[in-house]
Amino acid sequence: MINYGKHFIDNEDIKSVIRVLKSNFLTQGPKILEFENALKKKFGAKHAVCTSSGTSSLHLCGLALKWTKRDLILASPLTFVATTNAALYLNAKVDLVDIDKETYNIDLDKLKFKLNQLKNKKKNIHTLIVTDYAGHPSDWSQLRTLSKKYKFNLINDNCHAIGAKISKDEKYAVRYADLVCHSYHPVKNITTGEGGSVLTNNKQLYEKIKILRSHGMLKNKQKPWKYSINELGYNYRLTDIQSALGISQLKKLNRFIKRRNEIAKFYNDKLKDSRLFEIPKVKKNIFHAYHLYPLKIRFDKLTISKDMLLKKLRLKGINLQIHYIPIHHHKLYRSKINSYLPNTEEFFKQVVSLPIYFSLKNSQINYVVKNLRKLIYSNLKK
Ligand SMILES: Cc1ncc(COP(=O)(O)O)c(C=O)c1O
Repeated sequence: MINYGKHFIDNEDIKSVIRVLKSNFLTQGPKILEFENALKKKFGAKHAVCTSSGTSSLHLCGLALKWTKRDLILASPLTFVATTNAALYLNAKVDLVDIDKETYNIDLDKLKFKLNQLKNKKKNIHTLIVTDYAGHPSDWSQLRTLSKKYKFNLINDNCHAIGAKISKDEKYAVRYADLVCHSYHPVKNITTGEGGSVLTNNKQLYEKIKILRSHGMLKNKQKPWKYSINELGYNYRLTDIQSALGISQLKKLNRFIKRRNEIAKFYNDKLKDSRLFEIPKVKKNIFHAYHLYPLKIRFDKLTISKDMLLKKLRLKGINLQIHYIPIHHHKLYRSKINSYLPNTEEFFKQVVSLPIYFSLKNSQINYVVKNLRKLIYSNLKK
């Protein structure tokens, strides 16, 4: 089966993990610090905390920012549900702002409108979580300006965009956002099996997150057998086994992203001339990380539904996915959100994610395109 995403593990990765398995520490040893230092260097962060997942990273950010039921958290509907679930864990309120038609990231004009609307009602948002969807960075310089003007915290849910750049800068995420979350799930740009991290330049938030990652434990440096617990924390730690894999994977990130860009170009060249497809657009000065390749298909011009297309392609061994079922479509959110989100609705009708990952072969890409085109062109409306 050609899946929409897949990890890539080589001998170096395996050797790194085996070395830890033969060492004295499987968790809470030296590898986690080494991975955190490597992340800090690569992404220009003063601080990094590795965690058990992207989801726990987001939860820790909410805890550190002290979200409560009185706080309003804004996000875009085009993200994985973990983004907004973090707010629900802390009983905070969630609202959504529609996506931009070109980048599929949060629409800045609609965001400004929402912020002004709230301001007129003497309300404010607490935090904006922005997902750099598919790996295309948002307009972070404008987002930073808005966060200063309207005084809200800014989280970059950077789970898709690890390795992306703005104006050749791969350190953009920490430069603009207060907190940056990564996920190292196997379909992401690098993997630790499960895992994630929070990157930040804010020392206070870093210290808080570090303590809450490990039960809220405050260690006594003079008497290492003693610790105190003053607040509720979690076990959201990454193991040394996983960290060793992360260190080894991070060394390959640039190579991974280069190949993802080659694959995207291949799809672009094969699909751009058809009026039935819309390939992803890339803004000037953006280096896309292509965690996903979202292709829009004009199902309104076809006799085949999206479900049927995906079903038929699965029979050919091709597993496309849909990113995402918008947040407000889920039952959990239906009663909580009543924003009008037309761009997201339109996008959701059309989008499928084509397979994209480091080890995808050119022959497999050809196979995907051939089968996709065949199904689309044999099901045109008269
Ligand atoms: C945008 C986004 N946010 C958060 C997450 C959660 O990450 P994890 O699966 O590591 O918990 C994911 C991953 O699926 C994601 O794609």
